[in-house]
Amino acid sequence: MFKENLLKGKRILVTGGGTGLGKEMSRYFLKYGAEVIICGRRGEVLEEAAKELMEEQGGVVKFFPLDIRAPQDVDETIEKIFFEGPLDGLVNNAAGNFISRTKDLSHRGFDAIASIVFHGTFYVTHSVGKRWLETNHKGSIISILATWVWTGSAFVVPSAMSKSGIHAMTKSLAVEWGRTGVRINAIAPGPFPTEGAWARLSPNQEIDGEGETSNYNQNPMGRVGEMEELGNLATFLMSDGCDYLNGQTIALDGAEYLTGGTFRHLSALSDDDWENIKNSIKKTNEKDKAKRSV
Ligand code: HXC
Repeated sequence: MFKENLLKGKRILVTGGGTGLGKEMSRYFLKYGAEVIICGRRGEVLEEAAKELMEEQGGVVKFFPLDIRAPQDVDETIEKIFFEGPLDGLVNNAAGNFISRTKDLSHRGFDAIASIVFHGTFYVTHSVGKRWLETNHKGSIISILATWVWTGSAFVVPSAMSKSGIHAMTKSLAVEWGRTGVRINAIAPGPFPTEGAWARLSPNQEIDGEGETSNYNQNPMGRVGEMEELGNLATFLMSDGCDYLNGQTIALDGAEYLTGGTFRHLSALSDDDWENIKNSIKKTNEKDKAKRSV
C-alpha cells in the first residue's frame, strides 16, 4: 500500500509493543523502514517479540522493560532512548482493561486501569513531548483509544473514563503544540481480537465465535478488523505528507460504534455469569503475573 521506505530514518517508540496491537503496529513500522523501540512490563516477552520481528522484517527493534505507571521510570527510560538519538514517533498503546459491573469494582480495581491508561499515557507523552519541544524536533504521537470515548461504555467504566481523558489530551495538545511540529492523533479500533484483550473483555467466547453476544456478528461489516488495516492506518499517521491532520481520533471499527455502546448486551447477564467472568479474568491475570515473576 505504501512505498517501501516510507518511514526510513524514523525512530518510533511503541508502548506495550511486545504483544497484541502494539506488536502488530511495530511490524508495519519496521516493514516500512523505521527503527522500532518497544517497551512493556515483561522483559522476556519484549525480547522474544523483538527477535521475531527482526527475523521476519529485518531492521532494528530495541526493547526497554518499563511499567508506564511509574513516572520516574518513564522519564529515565525516555532519557536513555533519546541519549541514543531523538525519537520521531510515539504510539501510546499500553493499556489495561477488564469487564466488570461497576458496583463490583474495588478502588484498587479502578486504579489498576486508570493508572495505566490515564496516568501512564500522560507520563510517556509528557516525557517524550517536552524533549521534542526543547530541541525543536518534529514528532508524531498516536494514542490507541476505543470508540467508547464517544459512546461511553457500560461494564468498562474505568477504561471509558481514562481513554476519554486521553481523547481530551489529544485535542488539547494538538492545539497547544500546533506550531511546534509535534502533532498528536488517536485511533479508536473496534474489534481486533488479541489474546490479552479478548481474555479480559470477552472471556466466555471464542475470538471469532458466532454466539448471540459475539462482537463479530454485531459488526455492520460482519467481521472483525484485520491487523493489516490497523498497521496501515498507524503507518499513514506516522508518515510525512499529511501533517495538517492533527488532533483527531479516528475510528477503525467497520462502523460498529454507530450502532451503540460495545457491551450493552451484557445487561442480561446473571450474578452467576458475572462470577464466572470474574474467575476467568482472574485466571488470565494470575497466569500473566506468574510469567512476570519468572
Ligand atoms: C473485578 C478485578 C478484576 C475483575 C482485576 N481486578 N480483575 N476486579 N473484576 N475481573 C482487581 C483486583 O481484584 C485488584 O483489586 C485490582 O483489580 C488489581 O488487580 P491486579 O491483578 O493486582 O493488578 P495488576 O497486576 O496491576 O494488573 C492490571 C490489570 C490486568 C489491568 C488488572 O488485567 C493487566 O495487567 N492487564 C494488561 C493487559 C490488558 O488488560 N489488555 C487488555 C487491554 S484492552 P483488589 O481490591 O482485589 O486488590 C483495551 C481496550 C480494548 O484497553 C477495546 C476493544 C474494543
